[in-house]
Amino acid sequence: MIGAIDHVGIAVNDLDAALGWHNAAFGVVPTMREVIESEGVEEAMLSVGGSFIQLLATVRDDSPVARFLGSRGEGLHHIAYRVDNLAATLDRLRTADINLIDEVPRPGGRNTMIAFIHPKGNLGTLTELVEYLP
Ligand code: CO
Repeated sequence: MIGAIDHVGIAVNDLDAALGWHNAAFGVVPTMREVIESEGVEEAMLSVGGSFIQLLATVRDDSPVARFLGSRGEGLHHIAYRVDNLAATLDRLRTADINLIDEVPRPGGRNTMIAFIHPKGNLGTLTELVEYLP
């Protein structure tokens, strides 16, 4: 039902500093960097093998990432799996009584649809599902 790990999201205080660290440590540069106003974040994607590291910085004090950074500090924020059919996957998760944040798919970046599974009841792990559109 789920495919490969699409990306791992890391919340950071300073996106430029985090990009500099990844470049110094691993020699990677971002394939994409954009502000997503609806989420209140600026994100950068670093290609690693067949998946990505997603660095997330906040652009607003009231964004979910700002709240995360305020309570937990920098670090692992979420894991994202690829799925072929996101709507069908959400139906199956609902049937299994999994606690969803998104009841229906919503647009992500990079020509994708995404939905989040709540960390509560999911081993404390915020989980994202990603379907690539044709
Ligand atoms: Co993500």
